[in-house]
Amino acid sequence: MISDSFTKESIQLSDSIRSDFQLNSQENAVFNQIDWTKCPRHIAIIMDGNGRWAKQRGKLRTTGHKAGVQSVYEVVETCGKLPTEYVTFYAFSTENWRRSESEVNALMGLFSSSLIKYIDRLEKDGVNLRVIGDLSRMGSKIQEEFKQAQSRTLDNSKICMTLALNYSGRADITRVTKYLAEQVFSNKLACEDITEEMISESLYTKFCPDPELLIRTSGEFRISNFLLWELAYSELYFTDIHWPDFRKLDLFKAILNYQQRDRRFGGVGSVTS
Ligand code: FPP
Repeated sequence: MISDSFTKESIQLSDSIRSDFQLNSQENAVFNQIDWTKCPRHIAIIMDGNGRWAKQRGKLRTTGHKAGVQSVYEVVETCGKLPTEYVTFYAFSTENWRRSESEVNALMGLFSSSLIKYIDRLEKDGVNLRVIGDLSRMGSKIQEEFKQAQSRTLDNSKICMTLALNYSGRADITRVTKYLAEQVFSNKLACEDITEEMISESLYTKFCPDPELLIRTSGEFRISNFLLWELAYSELYFTDIHWPDFRKLDLFKAILNYQQRDRRFGGVGSVTS
């Protein structure tokens, strides 16, 4: 049942989006409660619980990561049909190198094989693939594969899918601090002229707006060094679902929950996003 408070515009938008989906009754019920004129432009996701998902099934952790790729694809495909313009996934943090060598190797292999498996579909479906993070530690083969994939999807504009790889929010802020300090030392910039915008425009994420919504799966309540600067005013949504089980219904639930928040940005009045 569509809410009585929806405007004619939001009902029209909802009808047009729905025509791109084949929704089951559960998905439809949540979908109908969402005012799609107020959909987040940018959704960031911490994919957690692959290991626990695998353990529950008596399988290797890498099986969980493999299953998680399917969730990534479903979320990207779904976002491509929504007004959301950017979706950013935390795929590998700088801390993840501390995992066993075999798990790290399996993850690197998975990034590579997933790229090969999905690149044609991403290209055809209008996905603009981007990568953020310090790829220099990731091996020349994988760097080249991501470079080629990014250039193949450069002109796509349906949805921007960003993978954070060997990423650390603190490292990114440190990198920008060094860059701005160099500008000051070489007299290209006065210290007092440094602004928040300058910092935002120098971060890896300079091409996209800050996320309005962060989703973290698997019942953990942490940011874990992800997009530290960019998440300053984001709404945080946590779900117990393990990442490999995350489907479009869960995405709709997160968007609905986000819409039910009162976003004040430090002020007192309600701000409509
Ligand atoms: C966290 O679960 C998951 C990761 C560190 C890896 C996420 C990577 C993928 C899903 C593959 C994505 C691939 C592409 C190409 C997008 P965890 O291992 O920490 O789970 P646990 O907390 O249950 O142990």
